[in-house]
Amino acid sequence: MSDLPHVPVALPGPESRALVDVLARHESPGITARRARQGEARGTGSDPIVWARAEGASVWDVDGNRYVDLTGAFGVALVGHAHPAVVRAVQEQAATLMHGMGDVFPNAPRIRLMERLAALAPPGLTQCILGLSGSDAVEAALKTAALASGRPGVLAFWGSYHGLSYGALAATAYKAAFRAPFAGQLGPHVRHLPYGESLDLIERFVAGPATGGEAIGALLVEPILGRGGQVVPPDEWLRGLRTLADRYGLVLVFDEIYSGLGRTGRWWACDHAGVVPDVLCVGKALGGGMPVSAAIARPDVMSAWGRSAGEAIHTGTFLGHPVAAAAALATLDALVAMDAPVRAREFEAVVRARLGSRVRGRGAMLGVETGSPGAGARIAGRLLRDGYIVLPGGVDGDIIGLTPPLCLSEEQLAGALDALEAGLAAESP
Ligand SMILES: Cc1ncc(COP(=O)(O)O)c(C=O)c1O
Repeated sequence: MSDLPHVPVALPGPESRALVDVLARHESPGITARRARQGEARGTGSDPIVWARAEGASVWDVDGNRYVDLTGAFGVALVGHAHPAVVRAVQEQAATLMHGMGDVFPNAPRIRLMERLAALAPPGLTQCILGLSGSDAVEAALKTAALASGRPGVLAFWGSYHGLSYGALAATAYKAAFRAPFAGQLGPHVRHLPYGESLDLIERFVAGPATGGEAIGALLVEPILGRGGQVVPPDEWLRGLRTLADRYGLVLVFDEIYSGLGRTGRWWACDHAGVVPDVLCVGKALGGGMPVSAAIARPDVMSAWGRSAGEAIHTGTFLGHPVAAAAALATLDALVAMDAPVRAREFEAVVRARLGSRVRGRGAMLGVETGSPGAGARIAGRLLRDGYIVLPGGVDGDIIGLTPPLCLSEEQLAGALDALEAGLAAESP
C-alpha cells in the first residue's frame, strides 16, 4: 500500500477547526496567536491542523488526512513515530513502575540508560545528569561548567537555540524576539559572539578581565546550528574552540540536542571534526517521543558537584523517569539496529542529488535555501496542502528544514522532493 500523502479534506478540516476554537479559548494567546499568524503567512488559513495519530513517517490529522512528516516533529521522531519497540517498552514499563523517586530512590531503567549513554557518548564522557527537556540538559551542563571552572561567565553564539527556560534562554540567541520581553530577567553572565567568529577574537574575549574580556568559564556551542538554519561551521573552528578551552581552563559544552544520535551521519556532530567536548547535551530524539534528556560529562568535570550531602542540590520530581528511560533504551537499540548514521547519509545523498547547491547541513539535518527571507513559511504552507509537513527555519525564515524520521521510504522522499521543487519554483521570480 502506498505511504504517500492523502489529503481529501481541505485544510484545516472541520474537526481541526472545532478543536482549535477550544484551543484559542484555553491556551495562552501567546502560543495560539503565533500559530494563527504563521498559518496566515503560509496561506493555510488561520488554524493549524490537529494531529491525531502518527506512525513511522506518516501523520494523520483529526479530519482523516494523511501527511508525510519531514520534520520528525522538531527532530524527536528520528527513529520513527511510534516505533513498535519503543511503544512496547513504554507499555511494559508503565505497567511495572510508572514513576520513580527522583534522586532519592533510583530505578533500573534510569541506571541502565546512563550506562548506555556512557557507552555511546564520545570517549571519556561517562557521567550524566538526566532531565526531561533540552533546556534541562543545557541548564545542567551550565551549572556543571560553572562549578568545574569556578567562573560564572558563559560564551554562547548568535543564531543558537538552547531552549526557553530562563537559564537556557539567557544563552539562546536565535531571534531577538525570544529574549527581548524578558531581557531584564536574563542572567548577564552569558555573552554572545557571532557563530563562527574568528578564533583570535574569541581568544581575546575569553582571555580574562585583564584584557577586557569577561570571566568566562564555559563555551556553549551547537556544533551544527539547528533551528538557526542548519549552519555547519568549519571543522577547524570547533577544533579551535577545543584548543581555547584547554588553554584557558574553560569547560567546552556541545549542545547536540538536535544534532546528536546519528542524525548528521555520525553518532555525534562533533565526530566530524574529531573534537570531544567536556560536556555533551542530548535530548529530542533520545526518548523516541518520550521526554528525556541528558548532560553527559567527564567524571573529573562532574566531580565538581562534590558528593551529595544527603539532599541533592540539582534534581526534580520526575528526574530519571522510568517510562521515559525505558523508551530511551529501546530507542537507542533501534537507532543502532537501523544504523542511523548510514541511513542519515543515504538521505543526504538523495536530497543533494536533487537540490544540489541549495542544500546545507549534514545527514538528516538539512536546510534547503529558498533565497528569500520569509519564503520558508509560504513554501511550508504549500507543502502542507500537498500533504508534506516541513518547517521554515533559519534566523530570517529563508530555509526549509529537513529533519525526517530515518524510516522515511524512498517513495515518500521522492514525493516530498517533487513537492519541494514545485514550491521552490513557485517562489522564483
Ligand atoms: C540545539 C537545541 N538545544 C536545546 C533545545 C531546547 O530543547 P527543549 O525544547 O526540549 O527544551 C533545542 C530545541 O529545539 C535545540 O534545538
